Amino acid sequence: MEYKIALIRGDGIGPEVVGEAVKVLNAVGEKFGHTFTYEEVLLGGCATDAVGKSYPDGTAEKCKACDAVLLGAVGGPKWGSDKPAEQRPETALLAIRKDLGLYANLRPAALRTAMAGACPLKKETAEKGIDLMMVRELTGGIYFGKRDKYQTEDRGMEATDLMAYSEKEIERIGRRAFELARLRRKKVSSVDKANVLETSRLWRSVMHRLAAEYPDVQYEDVLVDNCAMQLVRDPGQFDVVVTENMFGDILSDEASMVTGSIGLLPSASIGDSAPGLYEPIHGSAPDIAGQDKANPIATILSVAMMMRYSFHLPAEADAIERAVDAVLADGWRTADIAEPGVTPIGTRQMGDRICQKLLG
Ligand code: IPM
Ligand code: MG
Repeated sequence: MEYKIALIRGDGIGPEVVGEAVKVLNAVGEKFGHTFTYEEVLLGGCATDAVGKSYPDGTAEKCKACDAVLLGAVGGPKWGSDKPAEQRPETALLAIRKDLGLYANLRPAALRTAMAGACPLKKETAEKGIDLMMVRELTGGIYFGKRDKYQTEDRGMEATDLMAYSEKEIERIGRRAFELARLRRKKVSSVDKANVLETSRLWRSVMHRLAAEYPDVQYEDVLVDNCAMQLVRDPGQFDVVVTENMFGDILSDEASMVTGSIGLLPSASIGDSAPGLYEPIHGSAPDIAGQDKANPIATILSVAMMMRYSFHLPAEADAIERAVDAVLADGWRTADIAEPGVTPIGTRQMGDRICQKLLG
């Protein structure tokens, strides 16, 4: 089969990690007889530098002409929050998610066997294993609500960000979570702040309606503050965690750290139609950009998710994941995951070693 992939290399370490992921894609093509073709798409701070805005005209159309999108990372101090919105990389990221209708963000946080020592939690906790799937609502809530900033008479400047959710938005993400749970350990934890927020009370009522439709799936409500605590106390209790946009942003970073390094975790953003967008959950790490130090594994595992969720190629996805595990089991580490005394390898060598295992 032939698949066309939009490549958004982005800023900071983005181009380096995407470079390694492309090597892996080509290795998968060679091994399994697929042809992957690439379409370069400019987005982020690099787009601001090149054409004056982070989300150039026609970006969504270019991506829609592809079967999937692979994104490295966007952002950096050069395009900070003091810059106008159209120049900021984050604006572009939110816009592409919205324009492609990518309302479901899947962020798996699993402790890989070879990395058990990297779990910062107590040994007994790590030994229980961690394998959860964060399902984050991605195109609604406070990230997309009305914002305002205005002068008041007596309180100086004031700013507001509106958080709104419709039943329809909640139901479609909820369904994704229950369907995924059916393929896993059949448990859904829905995270909200229903003791305070009206949006959370609506969220909870929709989730309860869905829970009744999926009696084979165990269901629980978890308040977001308690969830933050449970993630470091006993993350092994979670299977599928479903939550709104901002809670999911925060909790997925926390969950990633519990598995050892944010450099290992991939993500998939999907909607009701193609293309899905695949990206590591880490950022652009401008401090180590261009030094061959970044960990490409999260991006490479994002390619595995692309195989699984966009192309329905589970054998190809498994092969990539197995190659990553084999390289880690051999003891190879990039600097972010190197145990004391271990000499780290660079970005390119990590990519090459994973390709060798794939083709070996
Ligand atoms: C993420 C990032 C983005 C988000 C930022 C860069 C806008 O933190 O993908 O988690 O908050 O969604
Ligand atoms: Mg984030």
